[in-house]
Amino acid sequence: MSSALENIQQHIQGLGPVEALTKLAELFPGEVIFSTSFGWEDQVISHMIFSNNLPIKVFTLETGRLFRETYSVWAATMNRYQKPIHAYYPNNELLEEMVSKKGPNSFYESVENRKECCGIRKIEPLKRALKGNKIWITGIRAEQSVNRHDMHDLEWDEQNQLVKFHPIFSWTLDEVKAYVKQYNIPYNSLHDKGFPSIGCMPCTRAVAEGEDFRAGRWWWEDQSKKECGLHEVAKP
Ligand code: ADX
Ligand code: SF4
Repeated sequence: MSSALENIQQHIQGLGPVEALTKLAELFPGEVIFSTSFGWEDQVISHMIFSNNLPIKVFTLETGRLFRETYSVWAATMNRYQKPIHAYYPNNELLEEMVSKKGPNSFYESVENRKECCGIRKIEPLKRALKGNKIWITGIRAEQSVNRHDMHDLEWDEQNQLVKFHPIFSWTLDEVKAYVKQYNIPYNSLHDKGFPSIGCMPCTRAVAEGEDFRAGRWWWEDQSKKECGLHEVAKP
């Protein structure tokens, strides 16, 4: 797979995020897709896609457990750009079975239960969303966690058998904030209340000054286990 990656790398080498996204959309028409959780990194990328009319499908995984503020910024984004954002929901049978058997908050009880919930609410819908696509765009930045420092802006996703591209991988948080301000982009108001990383409501809390960006995600678990499986860190 590395030769395909190298080939893509050559095409986007030295390009800024908008130019790189434009090039990828040209190279893989109808096969480039962007996942948004409406965090400010994702809002930057949505702005780039929507305001440049790039032919890249934007989708979100609606887990059913998002913050009220996340729904507000989702609605504000559709209002602002007048573009569709495709919502993928969990499979109703799998969800009904899990919640009927284990209750609505089983994720606090064990890592296994938490992974089951993420599997049903995020991973299975993600697989449906990615199907038929060649390039998956995300808002991941290197600075977000120690794990993510080891990633690259372009990588092969073995699990989903496609290429992932993180257009603002090397941006700092200050750069993200400055961009949001410059273009007056709607953003999640929780970011102003100590939430650098925002996932599902029951599994996200604010972090203290100086804490890891992702310290508030699944805070009751071991540091080492804190990825939900959407983004496996590629082994070298
Ligand atoms: S996670 O692995 O912890 O859930 P994180 O919140 O850091 O991921 O977000 C990283 C990237 O994953 C986002 O920029 C976005 O592309 C994607 N992502 C995360 N959650 C969702 C979601 N609910 N819907 C769509 N994309 C998501
Ligand atoms: Fe379930 Fe929490 Fe994972 Fe959301 S983050 S899918 S509520 S375990």
